[in-house]
Amino acid sequence: MSKNENHERSAVSVIGLGQMGARLAQAFLAAGYTTTVWNRSAAKADALVAQGAVRAATAEAAVAASPLVVVCLPDYTTVDDLLGPVAESLRGRVLVNLTSGTPEEAARTADWAAGHGAGYLDGAAMSGTRLVGRPEALFVFSGSPEAFATHRAVLASLGNSVHLGADPALAPVYDTALFGLAWGALAGFYHAVALVGASGVDPTVFATVAAGHMPFVTSLMTDHARQIQDGRFPNDDGTVEVHAAAMEHLVHTSRAQGIGTDVPDLIETLLKRTAAIGHGVSGIASVVETITKGERNV
Ligand SMILES: NC(=O)c1ccc[n+]([C@@H]2O[C@H](COP(=O)([O-])OP(=O)(O)OC[C@H]3O[C@@H](n4cnc5c(N)ncnc54)[C@H](OP(=O)(O)O)[C@@H]3O)[C@@H](O)[C@H]2O)c1
Repeated sequence: MSKNENHERSAVSVIGLGQMGARLAQAFLAAGYTTTVWNRSAAKADALVAQGAVRAATAEAAVAASPLVVVCLPDYTTVDDLLGPVAESLRGRVLVNLTSGTPEEAARTADWAAGHGAGYLDGAAMSGTRLVGRPEALFVFSGSPEAFATHRAVLASLGNSVHLGADPALAPVYDTALFGLAWGALAGFYHAVALVGASGVDPTVFATVAAGHMPFVTSLMTDHARQIQDGRFPNDDGTVEVHAAAMEHLVHTSRAQGIGTDVPDLIETLLKRTAAIGHGVSGIASVVETITKGERNV
């Protein structure tokens, strides 16, 4: 079989060519896959067609064109409205939904697809649009393992495409969890930039030092995940009380520099609540117990 024939068999359709959908289609094209595209406003397909994409006249024609159908629309209601009338065309195909939504919506859409004889993968693009097509762009998928195995190579052209498991709800769960993780890190970064900025430090100079510090933070995540799994929190990285005291210093210094304390206040509260439930001399990963128990331990 020639390379082209192999790619022909792996053809993919992309429905929804907004900021993200257009980048998805571009990545498939760049990897050499026959790519059919459809967008409500047809002009958004022009640049992709110029790069070799096949224009479908309707959403139904786009579904019929390929064994793998990727949709990337604003929300699941739009997906329902668009695919509902063409559901029978999905029979025997795999639907990959890279629209952001909730676990409930993912589960419901998987059931709907199964009811129409289609395989289903829910997915989430985790790394914005700029990195799509590069190995560092994280894409998470969940749902039919068979569907993922069949289309693994095509989906890998988007970046680091990871299958999380058979439960279609996992992708949106990871999506929101990773979004919160990124925002936690960014909130800490913005606070730090404001703090050093009050001493006249250029944010770009600080960013270089901060980025060099991140491998240490990543190594803590790996170690602490094991501690959380074991339910034991050794305090080699400092006790909750020691970190709470350090956080008080950060709050004090921030106030002295005339900047806001929202970010360190939040962390200080978490550490103090964790000490209050008996983890004062435990390691800092015990904060997870405060979060897991929610309001019950207040
Ligand atoms: N952009 C990002 O960085 C990013 C990152 C991660 C995840 N996502 C997710 O990706 C999904 C798409 O985001 P986006 O940034 O690509 O959005 P976008 O640029 O606003 O594009 C939305 C797309 O949906 C189409 N659309 C909207 N309403 C429609 C309808 N009623 N019928 C048919 N098509 C309709 C639009 O078509 P028209 O061109 O005709 O308006 C457009 O192609 C969202 O769920 C978003 O959360 C985006």
